[in-house]
Amino acid sequence: MYLAIIGGTGLSQIEGIEDVRHQMVSTPFGEPSGPVTIGRLQGCDVVFLPRHGYNHRIPPHQVNYRANIWALREMGVDRILAVAAVGGIHPDMGPGSLVVPDQLIDYTWGRPSTFYEGDLDSVTHVDFTYPYDETLRRAFLEAGQALDLELIDGGTYGATQGPRLETAAEIRRLQRDGCDVVGMTGMPEAVLAREAGIDYASLNVVANWAAGVRDGEVISLAEIDRTLNRSMGKVRKVLKHVLNDENRMLWRRTG
Ligand code: HPA
Repeated sequence: MYLAIIGGTGLSQIEGIEDVRHQMVSTPFGEPSGPVTIGRLQGCDVVFLPRHGYNHRIPPHQVNYRANIWALREMGVDRILAVAAVGGIHPDMGPGSLVVPDQLIDYTWGRPSTFYEGDLDSVTHVDFTYPYDETLRRAFLEAGQALDLELIDGGTYGATQGPRLETAAEIRRLQRDGCDVVGMTGMPEAVLAREAGIDYASLNVVANWAAGVRDGEVISLAEIDRTLNRSMGKVRKVLKHVLNDENRMLWRRTG
């Protein structure tokens, strides 16, 4: 059992990881977003990888999602907790909210989004009815409860191409489709994890109201930064709590 955290915008580092080492992992799909950070957090072995690189230089459409997931699997990771900034569409999911989505719709295009291509013995499909792992979703939600932080249980994540933000009409379309939040990195990350046999769940941090949700307003990038900075403290607490629980379970299993 080996757990990885993939950090998104606003979470390029995790303080408090002990016995840290960094390792570059090369993959048949090229380089991951950076060397992985390996260490212990809350007594739990953990691997950390910032999706956009340690300097936040890789835009959503150019993240090498395949290399990232492949590298984690190479290291023996079998569970991923992802963190991702999103825009809020649902009226209950305003800036500062934390959402643990249970569904997604993929609007991205042109991203290498499968390991199953090239010289295959046979065509391979994976089941993706429920894209997020329920046990990991529960781990996030229970951490929220224990910490008295509100985490919204469920919602549909719309994955857009970026790097530009959406138009108001695009968000209206996503809303009609049933999306509650919108982000640029949830896919193909989630499906590649599924293909690799890695359990995956995502903690979405609402950074702004999605385009046009607040009539006549445009999106302020400075406001996004401020909201994310304010919210990341909560995200770090949630992650630490999940790992703490994880650690206790491990002791129970081995003790
Ligand atoms: N749209 C897409 N991705 C995002 C947004 C948004 O409004 N905010 C943060 N990531």
